[in-house]
Amino acid sequence: MYAQLVKSEGSKSREEMTPEELSFQDRIDRGEKVEPKEWMPEGYRKTLIRQIGQHAHSEIVGQLPEGNWITRAPTLERKAILLAKVQDEAGHGLYLYSAAETLGVSRDELMEKLHSGNMKYSSIFNYPTLTWADMGAVGWLVDGAAIMNQVPLQRTSYGPYSRAMIRICKEESFHQRQGYDIMMKMCAGTPEQKAMAQDALNRFWYPALMMFGPSDKDSIHSAQSMAWKIKMNTNDELRQKFVDQTVPQAKYLGLTVPDENLVWNEEKGGHDFSEPDWSEFFAVIAGNGPCNAERLGARVKAWDDGAWFREGLMAHADKAAARRIAAE
Ligand code: 3HC
Repeated sequence: MYAQLVKSEGSKSREEMTPEELSFQDRIDRGEKVEPKEWMPEGYRKTLIRQIGQHAHSEIVGQLPEGNWITRAPTLERKAILLAKVQDEAGHGLYLYSAAETLGVSRDELMEKLHSGNMKYSSIFNYPTLTWADMGAVGWLVDGAAIMNQVPLQRTSYGPYSRAMIRICKEESFHQRQGYDIMMKMCAGTPEQKAMAQDALNRFWYPALMMFGPSDKDSIHSAQSMAWKIKMNTNDELRQKFVDQTVPQAKYLGLTVPDENLVWNEEKGGHDFSEPDWSEFFAVIAGNGPCNAERLGARVKAWDDGAWFREGLMAHADKAAARRIAAE
């Protein structure tokens, strides 16, 4: 079924697996959840740390483009909604870091890897948010793409990740709706407001398609991650679903998806559409997108600025522990 997927490095056929690996794979195939203290192949553990860690980083870095608009939201109500949404993203990051910690990695290690450029976060957050309409486009398209990817992850094989995703998905669907609501308002507004909404769609369409990762033929991890049910769908499957879901929503808004090749294909029961510019995608994930330096710089600064607070907490915890021991 997934003949287009490339073989993942280090993946094994059943004949090559040890008895432990075979019985682990059988548990996965039966749909059982894996829990933190149970035996798991090292590759499974590492893949989860990579994926959950990148996901957590995406939630945290993802606060920055929207945080940029909190002080400039057009009404008090919009400001309160945006503030709540950005706080939700911080919460998602924290659940996900906690899920990653159950795999034996510390939060400090994950932070160090993010700050030194040794761990990725979603490509989408390296694009600027230039106008208020971008808050609409981000909620509608970016959170919309995130939900498309994350709803299946509620069934992922690792228990703590799957449980974190259930809560996250509930909040993400509210985020998507608030973005679409902004777009509806702008599209029903003045011609200038509608033009801003169209411009935001034009700039965010292809970066949103890139969120699902490279095409299946270039996705080095998909085959193994799907065998382990760390991923439930291929990148191209989810991208197709996203396009099919989003095109009618754009039509309802009276906006034009910026793709001349976009057409309904009756035979496949989905849209044909243009691929994003993959050279741009690979440049962005290599650190060379429009805002990579700014985003990482902001995170490193926040970490450094918070050092006194972390040190204060540790000093307090040490003193409290010493007092407890002295009282025993
Ligand atoms: N941005 C950055 N890097 C990406 C990427 C993207 N959009 N898509 C793929 N990559 C990277 C992969 O991490 C991998 O690099 P690595 O080997 O250095 O880790 C490389 O490109 C090859 O891609 P693969 O398809 O082989 O990688 P995966 O199997 O990991 O698939 C994925 C990529 C689909 C993003 C998968 O990791 C995934 O489903 N992750 C969980 C969801 C997630 O991280 N979502 C973040 C979205 S933003 C968000 O949720 C915030 C919300 O508030 C909107």
